[in-house]
Amino acid sequence: PPNLQTSSGPINTADSNEEYARVNWDALGFGVIPTDFMYVMKCSKEGDFLHGNLTPYGNIELSPSAGVLNYGQGLFEGLKAYRKEDGGIQLFRVDQNALRMKMGAERLCMPSPSVDQFIHAVKQTVLANKRWVPPPGKGALYLRPMLLGTGAVLGLAPAPEYTFLIFAAPVGNYHKDRAALNLYVEDKLHRAIPGGTGGVKSITNYSPVFLAQSHAKAKGFSDVIFLDSVNGKYVEETSACNIFIVKDNVLSTPAIQGTILPGITRNSVIELVTSFGYQVEERLIPVEDLLEADEAFCTGTAMIVNPIGSITYQGKRVEYRRGQEALAQKLYEAVVGIQTGLVEDNKGWTLQL
Ligand code: COI
Repeated sequence: PPNLQTSSGPINTADSNEEYARVNWDALGFGVIPTDFMYVMKCSKEGDFLHGNLTPYGNIELSPSAGVLNYGQGLFEGLKAYRKEDGGIQLFRVDQNALRMKMGAERLCMPSPSVDQFIHAVKQTVLANKRWVPPPGKGALYLRPMLLGTGAVLGLAPAPEYTFLIFAAPVGNYHKDRAALNLYVEDKLHRAIPGGTGGVKSITNYSPVFLAQSHAKAKGFSDVIFLDSVNGKYVEETSACNIFIVKDNVLSTPAIQGTILPGITRNSVIELVTSFGYQVEERLIPVEDLLEADEAFCTGTAMIVNPIGSITYQGKRVEYRRGQEALAQKLYEAVVGIQTGLVEDNKGWTLQL
């Protein structure tokens, strides 16, 4: 691809001089809206990532024998850039995404960009697509960094070459109006196994949830909650986000032990909740505890903090507290406040561009 930019600073094209792209910012959901540029960095044969570049957003050329296509050797990340009231743009906990990608790369036997390379690449991608960062309060520019085995293989082995790629899309709420979710506890299909890849953001963790999701959606549910695959008894997570329950003044979430994705929003909520007078427990959560909770909610980069309205398990449906007084709403406001610059960031979680 052409080398469009190798240093920081905006790209001078006619389009990118516009302050804002022509988007109906009030109608943003969570879908693909192509933006101007993507970032591509290839790994040399020696295993080093060198010379990343911005290139116009578009299709990529891939060998049919690419490791990612044949053996699923790939990871993805997700993070958001927000436009603040003063017009500045900030990233939320980008270093955590970089570290999580490194961890996943080790699990999938891939080389990975350094934390500095990752952060630099994300910044470049946001700056090049600045006009796609929604106005304050209208959403965020979602960044999707990927690490892919793009070298050709036939025998089962790690790919000989890798590509780190970031694309961006403006997004609003993952679920329209952040409506409360009606979840179904799936007791036959599983998301992750001990010793597997459930604890890293492997691309192979995601399509296996579709069947359970489609069964649940056919019955009118929003999504599923997966249980552990050994006992079929402990709560793990939903298809693409972490889960929390509230009972009295205790917030509980499944402990990270290999089958749970270490969510960055999950971690942020755990750090913030003590200021609301709650204790936090990371532990095994028997499914019965879901049914006895006062409140339940999901967290993830895409959905931030989304209330759960009901959970159904083996024919029993339980409804939960929600609304302005619910802890989920307070945590949502606390997290979004920091993300958007409305609340002072005294944790050092934001990075100004
Ligand atoms: C995220 O919250 O960023 C996720 O990984 C969910 C994704 C499948 C949309």
